[in-house]
Amino acid sequence: MLKIEDLTVEVNGKTLLHDVNLEVQKGYTNVLFGPNGAGKSALMRTIMGFSEYRVVKGRILFNGEDITGLSVDERARRGLGIMMQRPPDMSGIKLKDLIKVLSKGKKNPEVLAENLDMTRFMDRDVNVGFSGGEIKRSELLQLAAQNPSLYLLDEPESGVDLVSIEQVGMTIKGLLEEGVNCPGESCEKGKSALIITHTGQILDYVKADRGYILCNGTIMCSGNPLKMLEEIKNRGYEECIKCRLMK
Ligand SMILES: Nc1ncnc2c1ncn2[C@@H]1O[C@H](COP(=O)(O)OP(=O)(O)OP(=O)(O)O)[C@@H](O)[C@H]1O
Ligand SMILES: [Mg+2]
Repeated sequence: MLKIEDLTVEVNGKTLLHDVNLEVQKGYTNVLFGPNGAGKSALMRTIMGFSEYRVVKGRILFNGEDITGLSVDERARRGLGIMMQRPPDMSGIKLKDLIKVLSKGKKNPEVLAENLDMTRFMDRDVNVGFSGGEIKRSELLQLAAQNPSLYLLDEPESGVDLVSIEQVGMTIKGLLEEGVNCPGESCEKGKSALIITHTGQILDYVKADRGYILCNGTIMCSGNPLKMLEEIKNRGYEECIKCRLMK
């Protein structure tokens, strides 16, 4: 569904990502690990098409189409959706109005809001004065309303308290599994996702298929995500970097 080929990206003349190759197949959930400042959010934001990230080499394919030159809204219309690590405040835009536009009547926003305990925020401006955990739930609500086919989730659990984490985890699980049991080939496997996590807490709720480790703007290795997480918890990222240098 998503294929990233030899992607090299610059911001203000500085190279943030070098020759990144990564794939997410339809119905699969892949995880992106890496230390602070590695370029994980930059990669997500480049996939979504934020204009400050300049692709100087390589391409991004989505469902076989080269989307490298498309704008954010064109990508969103094709089924890409992002939950940002630090989304902006939107003064003057009420959450309920944004949700209405995003859902285009397809979903039932009241039920989604209820499930995420966001009903009382619907009349407030998007993210303005929201706490860290409330911002995450607001982002998730927007994404659920948008109903993308590929979810880009940048640290969905960071800053979320231990009680709300279950709410967030179960909501993401539900969204990704949508369509799993519906008839027909095309919807057999549910939605696809690329998730950034430092703690792996989200993996208690969502089954991950493949993990990637990004260091210094380069993919160092890929493999079983749970084993990778264990390795990172025990030994940090050093082993991965060493292994790459030996290749
Ligand atoms: N617009 C920008 N201008 C200049 N530097 C930038 C810009 N965006 C990102 N960077 C730099 O690129 C590097 C990667 O940033 P990024 O946010 O992708 O890291 P990350 O892997 O998501 O880290 P974290 O785990 O802390 O979220 C950082 O050093 C950051 O300061
Ligand atoms: Mg980040």
